[in-house]
Amino acid sequence: MRLDKFLGEFNIGTRKQIKEYLKNGRCSVNGEIVTKPDVHVDEKNDCISFDGNILQYSKFHYYMLYKPQDVVSATTDGRNTTVLDLLAGENIKGLSPAGRLDIDTEGLLLLTDDGALIHRLLSPKKHVDKVYEVHIRKPLSDKDISTLEKGVNIGDYKDDGSIDYTLPARVEVKDEDTDGNPVIHLIIHEGRFHQVKRMLEAVGNEVVFLKRLSMGPLVLDEKLSPGEYRPLSDDELEALGVQ
Ligand code: URA
Repeated sequence: MRLDKFLGEFNIGTRKQIKEYLKNGRCSVNGEIVTKPDVHVDEKNDCISFDGNILQYSKFHYYMLYKPQDVVSATTDGRNTTVLDLLAGENIKGLSPAGRLDIDTEGLLLLTDDGALIHRLLSPKKHVDKVYEVHIRKPLSDKDISTLEKGVNIGDYKDDGSIDYTLPARVEVKDEDTDGNPVIHLIIHEGRFHQVKRMLEAVGNEVVFLKRLSMGPLVLDEKLSPGEYRPLSDDELEALGVQ
């Protein structure tokens, strides 16, 4: 790979700026200052530094985003802000969200260009756990909880015409929110369209606020505010099986 392309992947600057930085001797390859942008580097084995910091090449990119409300989980949209718009400072080429959250849902969203990981996390066969914090209109009865936990008819049908009940789930009742709405954690293992809202509707309730707290081993970082993101840590990558 050309050195200027490599540096471009780290969002150090435009091609023109990078050329200038190289001329100023700010980059070294295996300890030698390199000033020419068209020098070829071995991105996996060479030790490339910029301003003294080693740049670790990685084939794929992984970001945890705290998706805020009013932002769509899409890569492009004519009208609304997209989750990719929030990663303005990054090289977003090839990044996609691993699954979708509704425009009015907030919380954990993984953005990556690792298509195999997205496939693994979203495959219905893998039953990856997703934990949602759900604020609801009224308290759940024991019967509602048991219905949600056993599997509920949300209006989906199988090819043979039989009801496609949701998979068993878990409900944990939490304290009320500051508006007095009951709060639950709902742990589901699939990702059907509007699943949480439709599950609560199926037991005669209504979601008034929805936030995803975790997906598989990934837990929303409490230090992130809505709209903020960060790269995944080495531990998180390892937990996802990509390191
Ligand atoms: N279930 C929903 O209803 N909406 C979401 O955004 C995610 C899960």
